[in-house]
Amino acid sequence: MTETQTTFIMVKPDGVERDLADEIIGRFEGIGLRMLGRRDLTPPLELAQAHYAVHKERPFYPNLIDFITSGPVVAMAWQGEDAIAASRKLIGATNWEDAEPGTIRADYARSIDHNVIHGSDGEDTAAFELGLWFPDGLED
Ligand code: RTP
Ligand code: MG
Repeated sequence: MTETQTTFIMVKPDGVERDLADEIIGRFEGIGLRMLGRRDLTPPLELAQAHYAVHKERPFYPNLIDFITSGPVVAMAWQGEDAIAASRKLIGATNWEDAEPGTIRADYARSIDHNVIHGSDGEDTAAFELGLWFPDGLED
């Protein structure tokens, strides 16, 4: 059974800086997902902290917040069949060295800290993140 889902995807500052956003968007379109919303912004500190609150006790958290607030990101909502898992598969493992060949991180990431893209890891996370980044709601 498949389910129509909406997931939150973000091209991180390294991906935007390296001009990868359009190519990455093409990959999501290529697996049949549909973009419901897009915001280009440099994340304010409070937004970044809320987004990564689950990691706030981790040693890498300060660097993660510095990085994600360091420049523009492309924050997006994508909808389609099993969109959450399909997106995570397209993105690849957190650590690029473990990422399946052909995934976005295998192709582009070159460190665990600067891994180009974020995708929600479950239904509750997706709902939380979409509400955080798209407080005015989405089309449809
Ligand atoms: P994301 O949330 O960014 O999509 O990444 P993810 O689910 O694949 O990984 P997660 O465990 O949620 O970690 C969030 C981000 O924190 C950085 N990280 N660094 N140095 C480390 O051991 C470490 N572990 C995680 C990564 O940038 C990861 O994307
Ligand atoms: Mg995560």
